[in-house]
Amino acid sequence: MSLIKLPGLIDVHVHLREPGATHKEDFYTGSRAALAGGFTYILDMPNNLIPTITAELLEEKISLSKEKSVCDIGFHFGTNGENTEEFEKVKNNPKVFGLKIYCNHTTGEMLIENLELLEKVFSAWDSPKPILVHAEGEQLVTTLALALKYERVLHVCHISQKSEVELIRKAKASSQKVSAGVCPHHLYFTKDAVSKMKGYAMMKPPLGTQEDQDALWAGLSDGTIDLIESDHAPHVKLEKNPPAGGQPAFGVPGLETTLGLMFKAVHDGRISKEDVVRLLYTNPKKIFNIPDQPDTYIELDPDLAYVVPQKGFETKCDWSPFSGMTLYGKVQAVVLRGKKVL
Ligand code: NCD
Ligand code: ZN
Ligand code: ZN
Repeated sequence: MSLIKLPGLIDVHVHLREPGATHKEDFYTGSRAALAGGFTYILDMPNNLIPTITAELLEEKISLSKEKSVCDIGFHFGTNGENTEEFEKVKNNPKVFGLKIYCNHTTGEMLIENLELLEKVFSAWDSPKPILVHAEGEQLVTTLALALKYERVLHVCHISQKSEVELIRKAKASSQKVSAGVCPHHLYFTKDAVSKMKGYAMMKPPLGTQEDQDALWAGLSDGTIDLIESDHAPHVKLEKNPPAGGQPAFGVPGLETTLGLMFKAVHDGRISKEDVVRLLYTNPKKIFNIPDQPDTYIELDPDLAYVVPQKGFETKCDWSPFSGMTLYGKVQAVVLRGKKVL
């Protein structure tokens, strides 16, 4: 056994559900899950039950997180297109790292479908902090064009289709300021998983084909995709497996399995150890301008195999779509600013 040290990892896309849905997760359980997964800095999404679209709601989240979070946490501000006058109040807040726009149906009530509203948002977010988009297929084409028109920095969340990898590759080739993230579930499952796992394999964007998945791995290797984001989206089992006739909630937890899945990719010869650090630390830090965390690191043995259990996770939802899989490099210690926190 040989332990290695890595920097505390950064996850730029998590949903900790507080306030509003703390039966799924809260700042304490979610940040414990982050540490267990090797993350010392996480960025929380605004699609709470009451969306985080005013400075006041943002301040409420920040103060709740200060009381309860055991790792460092920042926030993405939300928009429904009607709150652009709030942007001035939040864009220089050091706890705000980006503006999130939802262009497709998913968990939460912030969908913007109207092109005029979308333009208004791109025009109003006058900041070097990225605009993050949930934009699938045609919506990605639209948001890339708007980011170019208004000279905004764009981060495309959870890309999942081959055509999207190609769009990003083309935009980068033309020097557009765009970055892209991919989620472990899209790298490891295809839509075939849904017949067996039912609601537990349902998320937005949905799982794709084998061809999509191959394109995602290729995009990771050639730098088209910049980072891994867990899109940790906890829902309790009853919400994922509702009584007959119910629609399962979209989203899967991921904070505690992301690093192990990336070391599995190293073990399988898909990526290198250096890639793991680039995708989960260096690039997220650079793209979202995450502050330094002095004397902060994690320890693990990248060659040590472990099996993802059925339960006993830190996340309050206490399940994983990866249960039963053999992963590598379970986090054994986390030191945050000189203090051992795991
Ligand atoms: C996310 C959630 O549950 O908040 N769900 C999901 O399926 N990914 C929302 C999102 O990231 O789109
Ligand atoms: Zn999304
Ligand atoms: Zn998400």
